[in-house]
Amino acid sequence: MDRALTQDFRFDPDDHAGYRRWRAHKLRNRIKDVSELIVEIEDLEHPTEAELAALAARIRRVNLAVYATPAPDVDKAVLRRFAHRFGLGRLDRNLCADEDAITTLSVSRTGRKGDYIPYTNRRLNWHTDGYYNPPGREIRAILMHCVQPAARGGESHLLDHELVYLRMRDENPEWVRALMAPDAMTIPANTVAGRVIRGAVTGPVFRVEPDGSLHMRYSARQRNVLWKEDPRVQEAVAWLADWWREDDPWIYHFRLMPGQGILCNNVLHARSAFEDDPAAGRMRKLYRARFHDRIRLPAGAVEEDVEHAVVE
Ligand SMILES: [Fe+2]
Repeated sequence: MDRALTQDFRFDPDDHAGYRRWRAHKLRNRIKDVSELIVEIEDLEHPTEAELAALAARIRRVNLAVYATPAPDVDKAVLRRFAHRFGLGRLDRNLCADEDAITTLSVSRTGRKGDYIPYTNRRLNWHTDGYYNPPGREIRAILMHCVQPAARGGESHLLDHELVYLRMRDENPEWVRALMAPDAMTIPANTVAGRVIRGAVTGPVFRVEPDGSLHMRYSARQRNVLWKEDPRVQEAVAWLADWWREDDPWIYHFRLMPGQGILCNNVLHARSAFEDDPAAGRMRKLYRARFHDRIRLPAGAVEEDVEHAVVE
């Protein structure tokens, strides 16, 4: 396989030859086993070149990787510097972020945060982050670090959005094209006590970035998402919803342990419900940083994924 050719593919619905080459390469490099996603990082403050390359190789293949460090309770500044090693510097400032724009995710018992599902212990439906952000504020990468898992539950489910593109294009290329329409998906305005705190946002589901990478904007929520009244959009959305009902082998399931973290190009994800146990001091606590940048893969990671390719 000529890598240069596969890298030329820019998710163009009309590029059939490019798609076939990219598809073959993508499937051959797919990581099947969750355990293969995990990279041990001895010191998050001083990751070695080999550790960085191992993470990059996984991200190149499936847009995500999991690191495991021996020190769960890191300083958020360390996370920022670690993210910076991957070209991630432009943090998104969402409504509930802490002062430093890295959000502490834990169950909120008082105040406004409790109105938003990420700050509760309820199940979190399939989505990509920032699907409600206006154009220009897309979330392209996420770093999620686990300080402490919940007493029970809180399993993460992740799926490479490029694989969703692939399977949808195989199923019906017209669905992919329909979801690329600039008016495919609308998130109505967020109004609190009669005041609009975020206007309505309309945009595509699949969008090709200027660098040729694929960005996905999606939420499986039934409420607060208005899908375009186009039969192809409606069919594509129904087909995706079917996917979430099954235990698809392409979906990764794992429960972040203390010191583990996810680094990803804002892939599709969901989370199961969880329970804290305050009496035992077992309260789920995660740090989450969302970036407008896409992960920049350090040089040296290019060939590794080919040499160690998993043969389909
Ligand atoms: Fe999320």
